[in-house]
Amino acid sequence: MIQRRVDLKPFLETVLEDGELHARWLSTLSMLEHTGARKIHKCMPALPDDLGRSLNVLQHAAEESRHAFFFAKQIQRLRTSGSAHGSAEADALDAGGSVDSHSQEMEGSRTEQKSGPLPLPLCYWPALKYFQSLDAMCQKRASKLLPSSPRRQTLYCYLAVTYLIEERAVDVYRAYEELLRQRELPIQLSGLLKEEEGHMSEILVMAQMLPLDFEAELRSLALQETALFERFAESLGTSALSAIAAAN
Ligand SMILES: [Fe+2]
Ligand SMILES: [Fe+2]
Repeated sequence: MIQRRVDLKPFLETVLEDGELHARWLSTLSMLEHTGARKIHKCMPALPDDLGRSLNVLQHAAEESRHAFFFAKQIQRLRTSGSAHGSAEADALDAGGSVDSHSQEMEGSRTEQKSGPLPLPLCYWPALKYFQSLDAMCQKRASKLLPSSPRRQTLYCYLAVTYLIEERAVDVYRAYEELLRQRELPIQLSGLLKEEEGHMSEILVMAQMLPLDFEAELRSLALQETALFERFAESLGTSALSAIAAAN
């Protein structure tokens, strides 16, 4: 439903040529995933009762947190491999694994941790603005469509914002994954992509609780999301060029 008017490939190619820039891109992705998880947690108490305590929604939030951790962990991986083109063994998020296998993954990672903060994300404020504007746009539409049901409004916003962002994320991650494979870099996004696609299918199932044509809603909201993403992508390009200029 989203439109692919922006080609992020030139930006991603620039990012992958420079180790520090690549680390900041991973930090940006980690920050966006973390923001997604936080938003889901925040809306849970205001969802219709059966969803506010739903295992599916809690699992969705947990998986977005795990994605944030995964991207942050890749920064260490690139650094310990010596460069952005290092030869470390590829790390892949184990999508759909058991809670135990995830715990082991976390345990293993804990011993690998190096101290020190994550690098600054590339576009902190434009990224937040993309999220907040999408939220505000969906909230406005929800108030108009479901004026007498605040809980259904929250559900509409959760499902619409998340679906659009998931779809955009899958598109960006696929382009990024293709370049990672071409350069034989030690990061695998296949497991993470599988989880994002699973989230999209779950959202369409949950949307059946809403008394409206959710897919028609998505088609119309997607046009506005595209305009917001174009602005964010433009900031990413400018920010990458400024970072390179500042380093030289
Ligand atoms: Fe995610
Ligand atoms: Fe997701």
